[in-house]
Amino acid sequence: MTDLHPSSPLRVAIVGAGPAGIYAGNILSNAIAARSDGSTVEIDLFESLPAPYGLIRYGVAPDHPRIKGIVNSLHEMLDAQGVDAERRTIRFLGNIEVGRDVSIDELQARYHAVVLATGAIRDAALRIPGVDLPGSYGAADFVSWFDGHPDVPRTWPLVDEQVAVIGNGNVALDVARILAKLPQDLRSTEVPDNVLAGLEASAVTDVHVFGRRGPADIKFTPIELRELGEVAGVDIIVDDADFAEVDPAAAGTNQLKIMLRTLNAWRDRPENRGESTGATRRLHLHFWHAPVEILGSDRVEKVRFERTAPSEDGSVSGTGAFVEYPITAVYRAVGYFGSPIVDVPFDDRRGVVPNDGGRVDGTPGVYATGWIKRGPVGLIGHTKSDATETIANLLEDADAGRLADPTETADILDLLAEREVEVTTWDGWLELDAHERALGAAHEHTRERVKVVPREEQVEISRSGALAR
Ligand SMILES: Cc1cc2nc3c(=O)[nH]c(=O)nc-3n(C[C@H](O)[C@H](O)[C@H](O)COP(=O)(O)OP(=O)(O)OC[C@H]3O[C@@H](n4cnc5c(N)ncnc54)[C@H](O)[C@@H]3O)c2cc1C
Ligand SMILES: NC(=O)c1ccc[n+]([C@@H]2O[C@H](COP(=O)([O-])OP(=O)(O)OC[C@H]3O[C@@H](n4cnc5c(N)ncnc54)[C@H](OP(=O)(O)O)[C@@H]3O)[C@@H](O)[C@H]2O)c1
Repeated sequence: MTDLHPSSPLRVAIVGAGPAGIYAGNILSNAIAARSDGSTVEIDLFESLPAPYGLIRYGVAPDHPRIKGIVNSLHEMLDAQGVDAERRTIRFLGNIEVGRDVSIDELQARYHAVVLATGAIRDAALRIPGVDLPGSYGAADFVSWFDGHPDVPRTWPLVDEQVAVIGNGNVALDVARILAKLPQDLRSTEVPDNVLAGLEASAVTDVHVFGRRGPADIKFTPIELRELGEVAGVDIIVDDADFAEVDPAAAGTNQLKIMLRTLNAWRDRPENRGESTGATRRLHLHFWHAPVEILGSDRVEKVRFERTAPSEDGSVSGTGAFVEYPITAVYRAVGYFGSPIVDVPFDDRRGVVPNDGGRVDGTPGVYATGWIKRGPVGLIGHTKSDATETIANLLEDADAGRLADPTETADILDLLAEREVEVTTWDGWLELDAHERALGAAHEHTRERVKVVPREEQVEISRSGALAR
């Protein structure tokens, strides 16, 4: 029976310090503080990376600083832990991989509840022949590279002139934009120096984005699409024939209407009327192209597509006509996919932890929220509504006495110290954050921050500062 009285706080472990985990911690902590019965809560927020914020730090594109501004409100949620500290605490514990450094069983022994907020960090598979040839890349890997993720190589082979991006979602747009954008326009962003150097040496001239369906089936969002048309020094090439079946007025949503108008307007751009604009790079949008094979003997030499057309049931089908493009690098932006966590059920087909309203199937006391709960779709804000539902169910279980009391009372940090895990803390993050901002201020092109990339260096800065405990 769980007792939320001050002498016996509700102890909760949250795994993953992306937006889903932070919102869950904040919603839980506020819900307990709002109770008039003196309930208390202690939350430990475990994160495998030395720094918090998940895909906001390692997914959102560097030229989207406005979105990175969401970090400010998430920062306040974690930083406010000192407020009302006798009723609620949230401890950030970084550089700990749950499932490797500590098991779910060990967490369950120490906490009333464990909330999984581990997101989705790898590429969904594109199952076509040739997909493993050198020169075929997952978008998630490329995103990790340009966002300075510590666990990917520091260099990227940008040696190809003609490159393809497969997929019509916002990740495809991010990848295409970063590939096509002139590097000088990224200098003022937080893009790491090794990435800027790589992009400055890029041979790319033409980026081809392929959708397997039509313009009315895009999964972009209007602001992101419009932004593509505003990239300096880059022509946007669209093919009139791709629009034959498309009626913007019949679009199902306002968002789609706006985007179809944007695409239609691009058909009238000078570059699509055969006029020269002086641009040095081109971004081609191709629709009705389903990828069928990546061709090449020991690296990518061509990509083969089947042309598609609308079918009577409202979907699309192959026309039996095939076309090949002399493209020598392929970026697969066909969605992200979650990863299993040892000792927790996993749905291999959907890449999620199976759950009902956040309660993990067959595992009392374990909950899920964010992308690992419902799949890799949706914006940062959507993870807040996920967390609201999951935490409401967790509290309902706590109030109904359905959560088992912890059997271990020792601090998890003792176990981690025994295992020589170099844990990073919130104060350590403040240290690293200040360090990165100072690097940014001192940079020849003044920037908000310059990210420290290597994991060891992040850990060392986090653990050596005056603030780190
Ligand atoms: C390339 C890209 C760009 C995006 N850009 C935008 C944008 O501009 N605007 C927008 O609103 N949305 C954007 N999104 C969507 C947004 O990033 C997601 O909605 C959101 O990050 C999902 O949150 P999450 O917390 O579930 O997962 P994540 O953000 O992935 O966080 C999960 C965290 O869990 C940690 N973790 C995983 N496994 C373990 C483990 N075993 N132990 C400990 N920690 C673990 C991970 O390191 C990570 O920090 C983008 C997504 C992608 C892929
Ligand atoms: N700036 C932003 O706000 C931003 C930036 C990045 C990501 N995000 C969000 O993050 C989420 C994930 O984005 P995402 O782009 O990874 O996923 P997504 O929106 O689901 O798009 C995936 C794309 O891949 C295509 N695809 C899937 N399988 C394919 C195959 N076998 N062959 C060819 N194409 C295939 C899909 O086509 P079909 O439609 O035909 O299935 C779709 O166009 C989205 O909600 C997105 O909005 C937001």
